[in-house]
Amino acid sequence: MKVLIINSSPRKGGNSETLCREFERGAADAGHETEMINLGNRKMSPCLGCYSCSRTHRCIQHDDMEEILDKMIKADVIMLSTPVYFYSLSAQMKILIDRCFPRFAELSCKNFYLAVTSADTDRDNIRCAVDSMRGFLKCIPGAVEKGVLYGTGAWEKGDIIGLPVMHAAYDAGKTIALEGE
Ligand SMILES: Cc1cc2nc3c(=O)[nH]c(=O)nc-3n(C[C@H](O)[C@H](O)[C@H](O)COP(=O)(O)O)c2cc1C
Repeated sequence: MKVLIINSSPRKGGNSETLCREFERGAADAGHETEMINLGNRKMSPCLGCYSCSRTHRCIQHDDMEEILDKMIKADVIMLSTPVYFYSLSAQMKILIDRCFPRFAELSCKNFYLAVTSADTDRDNIRCAVDSMRGFLKCIPGAVEKGVLYGTGAWEKGDIIGLPVMHAAYDAGKTIALEGE
């Protein structure tokens, strides 16, 4: 299976990237074809809300989102990862979600994993970020949420290392096929 991992944290080598790499390692060990995209390195402008794409299914803005959306459509499994910023998503994740508008129907029936990282140690407090990504999945016909990785209690770069969620990330990647059966 093709597994696409989208890390929306702009912090290089940060907690989200580390968590995503562990999920990727599990998926690769299970024999899947994996690719990770770091949105921090990409040029993506926010949705203009012009609705041109309602007719054309293409965005009038030509930036890295064209290629990323193509990759999302070709993937069987997509991991969406965001750090918690002021009890919401990163701006990069929000732009990614909104810019799926031209072709979001083509994402139907895919399996999704969600990952969040936060300084806060309480899952209940960061559910708002998870719920924002769930709102996106709700709009995609037949999208299946396969699991959520809660990287809570991670503030400084590297805090995630050694937390139990790292094992959960590896296991989630490793068992993708089993869960898809
Ligand atoms: C702009 C900004 C806002 C943040 N807001 C929150 C917050 O509301 N709650 C929280 O628990 N952590 C917050 N944090 C901390 C990050 O979620 C935390 O450091 C996380 O591990 C960052 O992930 P990264 O290393 O992948 O970038 C914030 C960090 C930044 C830079």
